[in-house]
Amino acid sequence: MTNILTGLQATGTLHIGNYFGSIKQLVQKSNTLRPEDNLYLFVPDLHSLTADIDHAKFYDAVLDNIRIYLASGLDTTKPNICTFRQSRVPAHTQMQWFLSCYSYFGQISKMTQFKDKSSDNNQNINVGLFTYPILMAGDIFLYDAEYVPVGYDQTQHLELARDLAIRFNNKFDQPVLTVPKSTKDQNIYFGMDKPLNILSLTNPLNKMSKSSTDLSSKILLTDSPQIATKKIMSATTDSLELINWDWDNQPGITNLLQILSLVTDTPTAQIIDKWRGQTRYGDLKKEVAFSIGQFLTEFQIKYKAVTDEVILQAVAKGEVIANLQAEIVLTRVKKVLGLIK
Ligand code: TRP
Repeated sequence: MTNILTGLQATGTLHIGNYFGSIKQLVQKSNTLRPEDNLYLFVPDLHSLTADIDHAKFYDAVLDNIRIYLASGLDTTKPNICTFRQSRVPAHTQMQWFLSCYSYFGQISKMTQFKDKSSDNNQNINVGLFTYPILMAGDIFLYDAEYVPVGYDQTQHLELARDLAIRFNNKFDQPVLTVPKSTKDQNIYFGMDKPLNILSLTNPLNKMSKSSTDLSSKILLTDSPQIATKKIMSATTDSLELINWDWDNQPGITNLLQILSLVTDTPTAQIIDKWRGQTRYGDLKKEVAFSIGQFLTEFQIKYKAVTDEVILQAVAKGEVIANLQAEIVLTRVKKVLGLIK
């Protein structure tokens, strides 16, 4: 039995890199899941409270996260696919408290995401932001998850979870918590040992980033084809005037070729064959813009077709299963702590 779990945050900012780099892989995995495996996909809405969010829009925004996956082909009617909202499973906050008492302040203080987020220009440095990696570790343990697909920015938190589980098990001299696999094993399992490299359109020395405030650097899943076209047509390239697949010397052009391969679902070799040696960057950009426009139109039709009712049905089922599963692990923990017999 293999359990996979992941948390999906912040829909409004998801871009094509997130889609092709993680959402699509996960949905593919979900379609080939063995009956004995389980996939838990949840919205970490408690985590979102650490940020300055728009509370009036929050309820719907949480459901929109799930809408993205349903639009991408996730079949939540399967018995082993479970979608839920974190706040609907009280075990998460209880687990966090238990784990906090076995987490060292020094170790938690080393988390680079907290250091970044609490740097000078951020006003809202709340305690939740600091302890959130512990909440995240609990998310993973409650579902005995071994595989936890996360972006590069979360690997330190995943390593922390491994560390906490191992230490907790050693302390109580029994396998209470399931230790998640190492990042390396995770990547192999998801076929991401060579991670997808989608670069910023304005500065192809950086990755396309969810948190970047430069909107022309990325194509959002919610962009209209017109906006996407503008972004592609003004993408930064180079002055070599020769199309080549060359990440080192022509990252901008290579990035465009890769995007074309992804949105048209065509092998890169075929794309390279067609474009290598050509000189007109404008022609390439036009084709990329057109193909992205098609991809976005199709995606957005599917996105709009997912009704609230379908989402609420999916989470209603998922939240029953999630609570049952989480209670099992929480009980295991309470027992070794001596809170229950
Ligand atoms: N922290 C993750 C992020 O910012 C989201 C998350 C919360 C998560 N809990 C998790 C991911 C548990 C995987 C497993 O993207």
